[in-house]
Amino acid sequence: MNPRLLFWIPAGLRLGLMLSAAGVVWYFLGPLAGLLAAVIGLCVFLAVQLHYLYQLADWLDNPSSGALPDGWGAWTDIFSRLYKLRRDDERNQAELAEWLARFRQAMSLLPDGVVIMDDVLFLEWCNPAAEKHLGLMLDRDKGMRVTNLVRSPAFMDYIILGRYDQPLTLSLRERKLIVQIIPFENRRQILVTHDATESERIEMMRRDFIANASHELRTPLTVINGFLEIASTQPNLEPQTRMAHLKLMMEQGQRMQNLVEDMLTLTRLESLDYPLRPEHVMIRPLMEKIHQEAQALSAGRHEITVEMAGPDIKGSTDELRSAFGNLASNAVRYTPAGGKIHIAWQDTAAGPQFSVRDNGIGIRPEHIARLTERFYRVDKSRSRETQGTGLGLAIVKHVLLRHDAMLGIESEPDKGSTFTVRFPRTMVWGD
Ligand SMILES: Nc1ncnc2c1ncn2[C@@H]1O[C@H](COP(=O)(O)OP(=O)(O)O)[C@@H](O)[C@H]1O
Ligand SMILES: [Mg+2]
Repeated sequence: MNPRLLFWIPAGLRLGLMLSAAGVVWYFLGPLAGLLAAVIGLCVFLAVQLHYLYQLADWLDNPSSGALPDGWGAWTDIFSRLYKLRRDDERNQAELAEWLARFRQAMSLLPDGVVIMDDVLFLEWCNPAAEKHLGLMLDRDKGMRVTNLVRSPAFMDYIILGRYDQPLTLSLRERKLIVQIIPFENRRQILVTHDATESERIEMMRRDFIANASHELRTPLTVINGFLEIASTQPNLEPQTRMAHLKLMMEQGQRMQNLVEDMLTLTRLESLDYPLRPEHVMIRPLMEKIHQEAQALSAGRHEITVEMAGPDIKGSTDELRSAFGNLASNAVRYTPAGGKIHIAWQDTAAGPQFSVRDNGIGIRPEHIARLTERFYRVDKSRSRETQGTGLGLAIVKHVLLRHDAMLGIESEPDKGSTFTVRFPRTMVWGD
Protein backbone atom coordinates (compact mmCIF):
# COMPACT_ATOMS: atom_id res chain seq x y z
CA MET A 1 0.00 0.00 0.00
CA ASN A 2 1.04 3.56 -0.58
CA PRO A 3 2.97 4.74 2.55
CA ARG A 4 1.17 8.07 2.37
CA LEU A 5 -2.12 6.27 2.92
CA LEU A 6 -0.51 4.49 5.86
CA PHE A 7 0.23 7.92 7.22
CA TRP A 8 -3.14 9.54 6.55
CA ILE A 9 -5.43 6.68 7.59
CA PRO A 10 -4.29 6.43 11.26
CA ALA A 11 -4.04 10.22 11.55
CA GLY A 12 -7.53 10.62 10.06
CA LEU A 13 -8.85 7.84 12.26
CA ARG A 14 -7.47 9.48 15.40
CA LEU A 15 -8.89 12.87 14.42
CA GLY A 16 -12.22 11.22 13.56
CA LEU A 17 -12.26 9.37 16.88
CA MET A 18 -11.68 12.58 18.78
CA LEU A 19 -14.38 14.46 16.87
CA SER A 20 -16.77 11.54 17.43
CA ALA A 21 -16.04 11.76 21.17
CA ALA A 22 -16.84 15.50 20.98
CA GLY A 23 -20.09 14.57 19.16
CA VAL A 24 -21.02 12.15 21.96
CA VAL A 25 -20.40 14.92 24.55
CA TRP A 26 -22.56 17.28 22.39
CA TYR A 27 -25.35 14.67 22.37
CA PHE A 28 -25.37 14.15 26.13
CA LEU A 29 -24.31 17.52 27.55
CA GLY A 30 -25.38 20.01 24.92
CA PRO A 31 -23.64 21.90 22.08
CA LEU A 32 -21.49 24.16 24.27
CA ALA A 33 -19.94 21.24 26.10
CA GLY A 34 -19.52 19.45 22.75
CA LEU A 35 -17.72 22.41 21.19
CA LEU A 36 -15.59 22.83 24.29
CA ALA A 37 -14.64 19.15 24.18
CA ALA A 38 -13.76 19.48 20.47
CA VAL A 39 -11.61 22.58 21.14
CA ILE A 40 -9.85 20.94 24.09
CA GLY A 41 -9.30 17.78 22.03
CA LEU A 42 -7.86 19.80 19.14
CA CYS A 43 -5.63 21.76 21.51
CA VAL A 44 -4.23 18.53 23.05
CA PHE A 45 -3.74 17.14 19.54
CA LEU A 46 -1.93 20.29 18.50
CA ALA A 47 0.17 20.34 21.66
CA VAL A 48 1.33 16.75 21.04
CA GLN A 49 2.28 17.58 17.42
CA LEU A 50 4.12 20.72 18.51
CA HIS A 51 5.97 18.78 21.20
CA TYR A 52 7.28 16.23 18.69
CA LEU A 53 8.00 18.92 16.13
CA TYR A 54 10.08 20.67 18.74
CA GLN A 55 11.93 17.43 19.57
CA LEU A 56 12.58 16.81 15.89
CA ALA A 57 13.95 20.32 15.40
CA ASP A 58 16.10 19.85 18.48
CA TRP A 59 17.49 16.56 17.18
CA LEU A 60 18.13 17.99 13.71
CA ASP A 61 20.24 20.71 15.32
CA ASN A 62 22.51 18.05 16.72
CA PRO A 63 21.74 14.63 15.23
CA SER A 64 24.58 12.85 16.99
CA SER A 65 23.39 13.93 20.46
CA GLY A 66 21.26 10.87 21.06
CA ALA A 67 18.38 8.71 20.02
CA LEU A 68 15.00 10.11 18.87
CA PRO A 69 11.93 9.63 21.10
CA ASP A 70 9.60 6.79 20.19
CA GLY A 71 6.90 9.26 19.21
CA TRP A 72 3.21 8.83 19.00
CA GLY A 73 0.98 8.06 16.08
CA ALA A 74 2.50 8.93 12.72
CA TRP A 75 5.59 10.32 14.52
CA THR A 76 6.69 6.80 15.45
CA ASP A 77 7.08 5.95 11.79
CA ILE A 78 8.76 9.26 10.90
CA PHE A 79 11.21 8.98 13.77
CA SER A 80 12.14 5.40 13.02
CA ARG A 81 12.68 6.23 9.34
CA LEU A 82 14.82 9.20 10.21
CA TYR A 83 16.77 7.13 12.67
CA LYS A 84 17.44 4.48 10.03
CA LEU A 85 18.54 7.11 7.52
CA ARG A 86 20.93 8.49 10.07
CA ARG A 87 22.35 5.05 10.88
CA ASP A 88 22.86 4.26 7.17
CA ASP A 89 24.54 7.58 6.74
CA GLU A 90 26.88 6.91 9.64
CA ARG A 91 27.77 3.50 8.26
CA ASN A 92 28.45 4.95 4.80
CA GLN A 93 30.64 7.59 6.30
CA ALA A 94 32.64 5.07 8.30
CA GLU A 95 33.11 2.97 5.17
CA LEU A 96 34.17 5.97 3.18
CA ALA A 97 36.62 7.07 5.86
CA GLU A 98 38.11 3.57 5.92
CA TRP A 99 38.46 3.55 2.15
CA LEU A 100 40.08 6.93 2.21
CA ALA A 101 42.53 5.85 4.90
CA ARG A 102 43.39 2.73 2.91
CA PHE A 103 43.82 4.77 -0.27
CA ARG A 104 46.05 7.26 1.53
CA GLN A 105 48.19 4.46 2.93
CA ALA A 106 48.52 2.80 -0.47
CA MET A 107 49.47 6.15 -1.98
CA SER A 108 52.06 6.84 0.70
CA LEU A 109 53.67 3.44 0.09
CA LEU A 110 53.84 3.98 -3.66
CA PRO A 111 57.42 4.42 -4.92
CA ASP A 112 56.12 6.76 -7.62
CA GLY A 113 54.99 10.29 -6.87
CA VAL A 114 51.37 11.39 -7.36
CA VAL A 115 50.32 15.05 -7.29
CA ILE A 116 46.70 16.12 -7.67
CA MET A 117 46.23 19.62 -9.05
CA ASP A 118 43.26 21.63 -10.20
CA ASP A 119 42.87 22.81 -13.81
CA VAL A 120 45.19 25.78 -13.26
CA LEU A 121 47.87 23.66 -11.57
CA PHE A 122 47.23 24.62 -7.95
CA LEU A 123 48.40 21.88 -5.64
CA GLU A 124 45.58 20.02 -3.93
CA TRP A 125 47.27 16.90 -2.65
CA CYS A 126 50.43 14.84 -3.12
CA ASN A 127 51.95 11.68 -1.68
CA PRO A 128 55.30 11.43 0.18
CA ALA A 129 57.14 10.13 -2.92
CA ALA A 130 56.11 13.25 -4.83
CA GLU A 131 57.25 15.40 -1.90
CA LYS A 132 60.64 13.71 -2.09
CA HIS A 133 60.95 13.81 -5.88
CA LEU A 134 59.82 17.40 -6.39
CA GLY A 135 60.91 18.90 -3.06
CA LEU A 136 57.32 19.71 -2.04
CA MET A 137 55.74 19.80 1.40
CA LEU A 138 52.02 19.24 1.26
CA ASP A 139 51.28 21.14 4.49
CA ARG A 140 53.29 24.14 3.40
CA ASP A 141 52.62 24.19 -0.34
CA LYS A 142 48.94 23.24 -0.56
CA GLY A 143 47.11 25.77 -2.71
CA MET A 144 50.27 27.04 -4.42
CA ARG A 145 50.87 26.82 -8.14
CA VAL A 146 52.97 23.77 -8.96
CA THR A 147 54.94 25.71 -11.57
CA ASN A 148 56.09 28.03 -8.76
CA LEU A 149 57.16 25.08 -6.68
CA VAL A 150 58.90 22.98 -9.34
CA ARG A 151 61.29 25.47 -10.86
CA SER A 152 62.60 23.83 -13.99
CA PRO A 153 62.58 25.35 -17.48
CA ALA A 154 61.98 21.93 -19.06
CA PHE A 155 58.93 21.42 -16.83
CA MET A 156 57.63 24.89 -17.77
CA ASP A 157 58.02 24.09 -21.47
CA TYR A 158 56.19 20.82 -20.96
CA ILE A 159 53.27 22.66 -19.37
CA ILE A 160 53.23 25.41 -21.98
CA LEU A 161 53.31 22.92 -24.86
CA GLY A 162 50.68 20.82 -23.13
CA ARG A 163 51.65 17.61 -24.92
CA TYR A 164 50.68 15.46 -22.00
CA ASP A 165 50.40 12.22 -23.95
CA GLN A 166 54.17 11.89 -23.65
CA PRO A 167 56.24 11.75 -20.47
CA LEU A 168 59.03 14.21 -19.79
CA THR A 169 62.49 13.29 -18.50
CA LEU A 170 63.61 15.83 -15.98
CA SER A 171 66.85 16.40 -14.08
CA LEU A 172 65.80 17.71 -10.73
CA ARG A 173 67.58 17.84 -7.37
CA GLU A 174 70.28 15.47 -8.58
CA ARG A 175 67.73 12.92 -9.71
CA LYS A 176 66.53 11.79 -13.09
CA LEU A 177 62.76 11.92 -13.02
CA ILE A 178 60.21 10.79 -15.56
CA VAL A 179 57.10 12.94 -15.11
CA GLN A 180 53.76 13.00 -16.86
CA ILE A 181 50.59 15.00 -16.47
CA ILE A 182 47.32 13.15 -16.83
CA PRO A 183 44.12 15.23 -17.01
CA PHE A 184 41.22 13.65 -15.14
CA GLU A 185 37.71 14.64 -14.25
CA ASN A 186 36.91 17.98 -15.79
CA ARG A 187 38.94 20.31 -13.76
CA ARG A 188 41.72 18.26 -12.28
CA GLN A 189 45.07 16.90 -13.37
CA ILE A 190 47.41 14.30 -11.92
CA LEU A 191 51.16 14.67 -12.10
CA VAL A 192 52.95 11.33 -11.86
CA THR A 193 56.69 11.19 -11.13
CA HIS A 194 59.01 8.21 -11.42
CA ASP A 195 62.59 8.17 -10.14
CA ALA A 196 64.79 6.79 -12.92
CA THR A 197 68.15 7.72 -11.36
CA GLU A 198 69.19 4.13 -10.68
CA SER A 199 68.10 2.69 -14.02
CA GLU A 200 69.74 5.65 -15.76
CA ARG A 201 72.97 4.92 -13.86
CA ILE A 202 72.88 1.26 -14.89
CA GLU A 203 72.12 2.25 -18.46
CA MET A 204 75.07 4.65 -18.40
CA MET A 205 77.35 1.96 -16.98
CA ARG A 206 76.28 -0.35 -19.77
CA ARG A 207 76.96 2.34 -22.36
CA ASP A 208 80.34 3.11 -20.82
CA PHE A 209 81.23 -0.55 -20.77
CA ILE A 210 80.38 -1.01 -24.43
CA ALA A 211 82.24 2.16 -25.36
CA ASN A 212 85.29 1.13 -23.34
CA ALA A 213 85.27 -2.43 -24.65
CA SER A 214 84.97 -1.26 -28.25
CA HIS A 215 87.80 1.17 -27.72
CA GLU A 216 89.99 -1.50 -26.13
CA LEU A 217 89.33 -3.87 -29.02
CA ARG A 218 89.82 -1.24 -31.68
CA THR A 219 93.41 -0.45 -30.75
CA PRO A 220 94.85 -3.95 -31.37
CA LEU A 221 92.63 -4.35 -34.43
CA THR A 222 94.05 -1.14 -35.91
CA VAL A 223 97.59 -2.41 -35.34
CA ILE A 224 96.86 -5.80 -36.94
CA ASN A 225 95.10 -4.17 -39.92
CA GLY A 226 98.03 -1.81 -40.40
CA PHE A 227 100.53 -4.64 -40.63
CA LEU A 228 98.24 -6.65 -42.90
CA GLU A 229 98.02 -3.68 -45.22
CA ILE A 230 101.78 -3.33 -45.28
CA ALA A 231 102.10 -7.05 -46.00
CA SER A 232 99.64 -6.90 -48.89
CA THR A 233 101.08 -3.76 -50.50
CA GLN A 234 104.74 -4.58 -49.97
CA PRO A 235 105.21 -8.24 -50.84
CA ASN A 236 109.00 -7.98 -50.88
CA LEU A 237 109.59 -7.17 -47.25
CA GLU A 238 112.71 -8.50 -45.65
CA PRO A 239 112.09 -11.76 -43.78
CA GLN A 240 113.36 -10.13 -40.59
CA THR A 241 110.87 -7.23 -40.80
CA ARG A 242 108.12 -9.65 -41.72
CA MET A 243 108.91 -11.75 -38.64
CA ALA A 244 108.88 -8.65 -36.44
CA HIS A 245 105.49 -7.64 -37.88
CA LEU A 246 104.08 -11.11 -37.33
CA LYS A 247 105.27 -11.08 -33.75
CA LEU A 248 103.57 -7.74 -33.10
CA MET A 249 100.39 -8.96 -34.74
CA MET A 250 100.39 -12.06 -32.60
CA GLU A 251 100.82 -9.97 -29.49
CA GLN A 252 97.87 -7.82 -30.46
CA GLY A 253 95.79 -10.90 -31.27
CA GLN A 254 96.64 -12.30 -27.86
CA ARG A 255 95.61 -9.04 -26.29
CA MET A 256 92.24 -9.17 -28.00
CA GLN A 257 91.78 -12.75 -26.89
CA ASN A 258 92.58 -11.84 -23.27
CA LEU A 259 90.08 -9.01 -23.43
CA VAL A 260 87.29 -11.10 -24.85
CA GLU A 261 87.96 -13.86 -22.32
CA ASP A 262 87.93 -11.42 -19.42
CA MET A 263 84.71 -9.82 -20.67
CA LEU A 264 83.05 -13.21 -20.96
CA THR A 265 84.22 -14.13 -17.46
CA LEU A 266 82.81 -10.89 -16.07
CA THR A 267 79.49 -11.37 -17.84
CA ARG A 268 79.23 -14.93 -16.58
CA LEU A 269 80.00 -13.86 -13.02
CA GLU A 270 77.41 -11.12 -13.20
CA SER A 271 74.53 -13.16 -14.54
CA LEU A 272 72.04 -13.86 -11.80
CA ASP A 273 71.08 -17.32 -12.96
CA TYR A 274 74.59 -18.51 -12.30
CA PRO A 275 74.79 -18.92 -8.53
CA LEU A 276 77.84 -20.20 -6.72
CA ARG A 277 77.90 -23.96 -6.18
CA PRO A 278 80.25 -24.37 -3.22
CA GLU A 279 82.67 -27.25 -3.53
CA HIS A 280 85.73 -28.31 -1.59
CA VAL A 281 88.57 -25.96 -2.57
CA MET A 282 91.89 -27.67 -1.88
CA ILE A 283 94.23 -24.85 -1.03
CA ARG A 284 97.59 -26.63 -1.42
CA PRO A 285 97.28 -27.53 -5.13
CA LEU A 286 95.63 -24.18 -5.77
CA MET A 287 98.51 -22.25 -4.19
CA GLU A 288 101.04 -24.38 -6.07
CA LYS A 289 99.34 -23.58 -9.31
CA ILE A 290 99.30 -19.83 -8.52
CA HIS A 291 102.97 -19.99 -7.62
CA GLN A 292 103.85 -21.78 -10.88
CA GLU A 293 101.90 -19.33 -13.00
CA ALA A 294 103.52 -16.36 -11.28
CA GLN A 295 106.95 -17.84 -11.82
CA ALA A 296 106.22 -18.49 -15.48
CA LEU A 297 105.08 -14.90 -15.94
CA SER A 298 108.05 -13.51 -14.03
CA ALA A 299 110.52 -15.69 -16.00
CA GLY A 300 113.07 -15.45 -13.25
CA ARG A 301 112.97 -11.68 -12.89
CA HIS A 302 111.52 -11.78 -9.37
CA GLU A 303 112.05 -13.65 -6.16
CA ILE A 304 108.71 -15.30 -5.44
CA THR A 305 108.03 -16.96 -2.08
CA VAL A 306 104.97 -18.89 -0.90
CA GLU A 307 103.57 -19.55 2.57
CA MET A 308 100.76 -21.95 3.33
CA ALA A 309 99.13 -22.28 6.76
CA GLY A 310 95.39 -22.35 6.72
CA PRO A 311 92.35 -24.58 6.25
CA ASP A 312 90.65 -25.53 3.00
CA ILE A 313 87.52 -23.58 2.16
CA LYS A 314 84.20 -23.87 0.35
CA GLY A 315 83.78 -22.18 -2.98
CA SER A 316 84.56 -22.45 -6.66
CA THR A 317 88.14 -23.58 -7.33
CA ASP A 318 88.09 -22.21 -10.87
CA GLU A 319 86.86 -18.78 -9.84
CA LEU A 320 89.29 -18.52 -6.95
CA ARG A 321 92.18 -19.60 -9.18
CA SER A 322 91.25 -16.84 -11.57
CA ALA A 323 90.97 -14.24 -8.77
CA PHE A 324 94.15 -15.23 -6.93
CA GLY A 325 95.97 -15.60 -10.25
CA ASN A 326 94.97 -12.05 -11.19
CA LEU A 327 96.37 -10.67 -7.94
CA ALA A 328 99.61 -12.64 -8.31
CA SER A 329 100.04 -11.65 -11.96
CA ASN A 330 99.47 -8.00 -11.08
CA ALA A 331 102.24 -8.23 -8.46
CA VAL A 332 104.59 -9.65 -11.09
CA ARG A 333 103.62 -7.11 -13.73
CA TYR A 334 103.76 -4.06 -11.51
CA THR A 335 107.03 -4.96 -9.80
CA PRO A 336 110.27 -4.14 -11.60
CA ALA A 337 112.82 -6.90 -12.20
CA GLY A 338 114.71 -7.90 -9.08
CA GLY A 339 111.67 -7.25 -6.84
CA LYS A 340 110.25 -9.57 -4.22
CA ILE A 341 106.79 -11.12 -4.18
CA HIS A 342 105.30 -13.05 -1.29
CA ILE A 343 102.14 -15.11 -1.76
CA ALA A 344 100.48 -16.37 1.43
CA TRP A 345 97.53 -18.43 2.68
CA GLN A 346 97.06 -17.86 6.40
CA ASP A 347 94.55 -18.48 9.15
CA THR A 348 93.44 -15.55 11.29
CA ALA A 349 90.94 -15.15 14.11
CA ALA A 350 88.36 -13.74 11.68
CA GLY A 351 88.92 -16.45 9.06
CA PRO A 352 91.41 -17.60 6.45
CA GLN A 353 93.05 -15.09 4.14
CA PHE A 354 95.00 -14.98 0.89
CA SER A 355 97.52 -12.22 0.34
CA VAL A 356 100.03 -11.08 -2.24
CA ARG A 357 102.74 -8.66 -1.18
CA ASP A 358 105.15 -7.02 -3.58
CA ASN A 359 107.76 -4.30 -3.38
CA GLY A 360 106.88 -2.88 -6.76
CA ILE A 361 105.76 0.47 -8.08
CA GLY A 362 102.86 0.86 -5.61
CA ILE A 363 99.66 2.89 -6.08
CA ARG A 364 98.89 6.44 -5.06
CA PRO A 365 96.01 6.63 -2.49
CA GLU A 366 93.60 8.50 -4.77
CA HIS A 367 93.51 5.56 -7.18
CA ILE A 368 92.92 2.79 -4.67
CA ALA A 369 89.14 3.14 -4.31
CA ARG A 370 88.66 2.95 -8.09
CA LEU A 371 90.93 0.02 -8.92
CA THR A 372 88.10 -2.53 -9.09
CA GLU A 373 86.17 -0.49 -11.69
CA ARG A 374 86.14 -2.03 -15.12
CA PHE A 375 88.96 -0.80 -17.36
CA TYR A 376 90.35 1.40 -14.60
CA ARG A 377 94.14 1.54 -14.74
CA VAL A 378 96.56 3.83 -12.99
CA ASP A 379 98.83 3.91 -16.00
CA LYS A 380 97.22 2.83 -19.25
CA SER A 381 100.36 2.41 -21.29
CA ARG A 382 102.10 0.34 -18.65
CA SER A 383 99.08 -1.93 -18.28
CA ARG A 384 98.99 -2.49 -22.06
CA GLU A 385 102.70 -3.16 -22.19
CA THR A 386 102.17 -5.97 -19.74
CA GLN A 387 99.11 -7.41 -21.55
CA GLY A 388 96.72 -6.08 -18.93
CA THR A 389 93.05 -5.77 -19.81
CA GLY A 390 92.01 -3.49 -16.95
CA LEU A 391 89.34 -6.04 -16.04
CA GLY A 392 91.40 -8.19 -13.66
CA LEU A 393 90.41 -6.52 -10.39
CA ALA A 394 86.78 -6.16 -11.55
CA ILE A 395 86.74 -9.95 -11.94
CA VAL A 396 88.42 -10.36 -8.54
CA LYS A 397 85.75 -8.17 -6.95
CA HIS A 398 82.93 -10.22 -8.44
CA VAL A 399 84.46 -13.54 -7.46
CA LEU A 400 84.96 -12.33 -3.90
CA LEU A 401 81.41 -11.03 -3.71
CA ARG A 402 80.19 -14.51 -4.55
CA HIS A 403 82.40 -15.97 -1.79
CA ASP A 404 81.41 -13.45 0.93
CA ALA A 405 85.04 -12.36 0.95
CA MET A 406 86.52 -8.85 1.15
CA LEU A 407 89.43 -7.32 -0.71
CA GLY A 408 91.86 -5.14 1.23
CA ILE A 409 94.42 -2.99 -0.61
CA GLU A 410 97.39 -1.38 1.08
CA SER A 411 99.90 0.39 -1.05
CA GLU A 412 102.56 3.02 -1.03
CA PRO A 413 104.07 4.49 -4.20
CA ASP A 414 107.57 3.14 -4.90
CA LYS A 415 107.39 0.90 -1.82
CA GLY A 416 104.96 -1.77 -2.90
CA SER A 417 101.47 -3.13 -2.43
CA THR A 418 99.67 -5.81 -0.47
CA PHE A 419 96.37 -7.21 -1.73
CA THR A 420 94.52 -9.27 0.89
CA VAL A 421 91.44 -11.43 0.41
CA ARG A 422 89.67 -12.13 3.72
CA PHE A 423 87.19 -15.00 3.94
CA PRO A 424 84.66 -15.33 6.76
CA ARG A 425 84.99 -18.32 9.06
CA THR A 426 81.73 -19.69 7.62
CA MET A 427 83.56 -20.43 4.36
CA VAL A 428 85.99 -22.88 5.99
CA TRP A 429 85.48 -26.39 4.60
CA GLY A 430 83.89 -28.75 7.10
CA ASP A 431 82.47 -26.00 9.33
N1 LIG B 1 100.35 -5.01 -7.41
C1 LIG B 1 100.11 -3.84 -7.99
N2 LIG B 1 101.01 -2.83 -7.93
C2 LIG B 1 100.75 -1.63 -8.50
N3 LIG B 1 99.63 -1.35 -9.20
C3 LIG B 1 98.70 -2.32 -9.31
C4 LIG B 1 98.90 -3.60 -8.71
N4 LIG B 1 97.78 -4.33 -8.98
C5 LIG B 1 96.97 -3.55 -9.71
N5 LIG B 1 97.52 -2.34 -9.92
C6 LIG B 1 96.88 -1.21 -10.63
O1 LIG B 1 95.50 -1.48 -10.73
C7 LIG B 1 95.09 -1.40 -12.10
C8 LIG B 1 93.95 -2.35 -12.32
O2 LIG B 1 94.35 -3.69 -12.22
P1 LIG B 1 93.64 -4.80 -13.09
O3 LIG B 1 92.18 -4.61 -12.90
O4 LIG B 1 94.20 -6.12 -12.72
O5 LIG B 1 93.98 -4.38 -14.57
P2 LIG B 1 95.28 -4.67 -15.44
O6 LIG B 1 94.77 -5.50 -16.53
O7 LIG B 1 95.73 -3.33 -15.90
O8 LIG B 1 96.26 -5.38 -14.59
C9 LIG B 1 96.32 -1.71 -12.88
O9 LIG B 1 96.25 -1.16 -14.16
C10 LIG B 1 97.42 -1.08 -12.05
O10 LIG B 1 97.50 0.28 -12.36
MG1 LIG C 1 95.39 -7.44 -13.74
